[in-house]
Amino acid sequence: MQNKMTYYITTPIYYPSDKLHIGHAYTTVAADCMARFKRMQGFDVFYATGTDEHGQKIEKTAAAKNQSAIEYVDNIVDNIKKLWKTLLITNDDFIRTTEARHEQVVKKIFQKIYDQGDIYISEYEGWYCTPCETFFTERQLEGGKCPDCGREVELLKEESYFFNMSKYAPKLLEHIETHPDFIQPEARKNEVLSFIKSGLDDLCVSRTTFSWGIPVPFNKKHVVYVWFDALINYLSIVGFGSDEEKFNKYWPADVHLMAKDIIRFHAIIWPVILMALGTPLPRQVCAHGWIMLEGGKMSKSKGNVVDPAVLVEKYGVDAVRYYLLKELSFGQDGYYSEEMLVNRINSDLANDLGNLVSRTAAMLERYFDGIVPTAETAEELDQTLINLGEKVYREATAFLEKLDFANYIAAVQKLIARANKYIDETEPWKLAKEQSQKKRLASVLYNLAESIRRIVILLAPAMPTLASRTNAQLELFEDTEQIRWEEASQWGVVRPGSRTHKAQALFPRIDVSVLGREEKPPFYETAEKKIAEEKKTGTEPAEQDEITIDEFSKMDLRVVKILECSRMEKTDKLLVLKVDLGGEIRTVVSGIAKHYEPESLIGKKVVLVANLKPVKLRGTISQGMILAASDEQQGLEVLTIQSDLAPGVKVR
Ligand code: MSP
Repeated sequence: MQNKMTYYITTPIYYPSDKLHIGHAYTTVAADCMARFKRMQGFDVFYATGTDEHGQKIEKTAAAKNQSAIEYVDNIVDNIKKLWKTLLITNDDFIRTTEARHEQVVKKIFQKIYDQGDIYISEYEGWYCTPCETFFTERQLEGGKCPDCGREVELLKEESYFFNMSKYAPKLLEHIETHPDFIQPEARKNEVLSFIKSGLDDLCVSRTTFSWGIPVPFNKKHVVYVWFDALINYLSIVGFGSDEEKFNKYWPADVHLMAKDIIRFHAIIWPVILMALGTPLPRQVCAHGWIMLEGGKMSKSKGNVVDPAVLVEKYGVDAVRYYLLKELSFGQDGYYSEEMLVNRINSDLANDLGNLVSRTAAMLERYFDGIVPTAETAEELDQTLINLGEKVYREATAFLEKLDFANYIAAVQKLIARANKYIDETEPWKLAKEQSQKKRLASVLYNLAESIRRIVILLAPAMPTLASRTNAQLELFEDTEQIRWEEASQWGVVRPGSRTHKAQALFPRIDVSVLGREEKPPFYETAEKKIAEEKKTGTEPAEQDEITIDEFSKMDLRVVKILECSRMEKTDKLLVLKVDLGGEIRTVVSGIAKHYEPESLIGKKVVLVANLKPVKLRGTISQGMILAASDEQQGLEVLTIQSDLAPGVKVR
């Protein structure tokens, strides 16, 4: 029996052929979230990543730049390592397939499988896609091009070594069928099963047409096929054949994480290599979807790759990681746009989470001189908040165990929303007016501090700097580096007497005008041109008619709280809102559906023109208008009230 639970997780080892983009960052952040979660649970974690450096593509690219292959990759690998530092990735090791420790293992394994007769020499003819490093049969091509990337393929004929995969097909099928969690999600499992059932060909595992690879130990004319070489990284990084103690401690891997593009390599070729070796199979191979851009997949040739380091610089590491994890539903593809990222930051992080913390800290400051008081009263409402916290802890744990990152974050959001609602329901500003309610007020603020502590713990695997930044505003943790996961299930941990401090907002609202500054999309150029032209011609904005204060005061502007919000059917422009005007409920139809997700508005306080003549819009009577600022370039923003001002209050 091992005395500490271990957890071994891997990312694919990336090709150092180009700069990595947010797609690669997604897998690495997701695996990091798991590694941090497991460490917080007390596991001895080994988190592995690295680079897949051999192959014809790298050889050709380096030659085109007049560099040796190793010179070329060294530079890119340095940048990849820097990128992982920027994203606060906590990998325990980084393997390069050009390292001696890896080459030795590949040679040893190739030799062993050859010696036992599972690798044999023959002749291969096939269509080869260099960027994908993959051979295809005539039948597999699509319109004569690579079925994966659509690029040109070359007809290659060569003497090659073959790996007798077909021999292991029945054993592999049996393994997949008797280990329901081996391939996740279900759709990928079915894809792999039907592929195996259609018949496995033996795999060509050596090449003679280029030399940038690991030589076959007994025939120097051949180099080992890059996928055979690359997959073995999962063994070489963890001490296979060199550090038995380490290897036995961590192997078999708990999860190989990747996107669906390379599931077949991991769920077919890899287990068969391991079976031939007599080494246990990984517990799970899990494939997430792709991050897409509106114009399709990201690719260097389309010129639409998104550099994660630029995003981190603009928006902060916590926000970028949060967005990535939230955006891809388990196993599904998701879309990236900087606008959606900014909307998420503004709604989920600035409005919901950031405000919860800053409002609580501000109320502690105002009512208790910045010191967390003791909770001395308990009401049903408090219990609801406490119970939801426990439920969310269980849900977040279960979703993370399944690598369902989007639902994990959605679960924690429920607690954030509940805590914000608790403020609205308990109305601390009213309690503060009555001396007799001092104890109640103390309890409300203590309960908020405790709930924030729970939320921050639950989000810590996703957002590594959240705990220390929260502590800078409101001391909730003795040591933000030593937080344990199960502390989120406990209640009553925050010490009364902890202090608040003046600090920067956790997630400052982002002004949408920062959008796309690096890329300078066309609308910016247009806007810049317009401004420049206006400067040149001296065009001033048209003079507006003046109004008197009396005319202005005819307008009844009020703070209202949005209770419900949904899309109006059969139009993509209108939202239907139910708002609370201090007791009176109004229905308002608003043309902001293109700018806001209905759920993101619920709970917000906004400004209503309350005495506007009602109008019927698509059959619904709209009783007022919500104020928003907009222009063509920057989009639209509804004016929100951030303070504790109650619904019904007049705006002057
Ligand atoms: N070198 C191989 C992997 C060998 S592992 C033994 C390889 N490298 S890669 O650089 O092309 O990386 C592919 C992986 O990067 C995907 O499986 C996925 O993890 C990640 N992603 C690359 N683009 C992506 C998206 N657009 N969206 C999500 N993940 C993406 O394949």
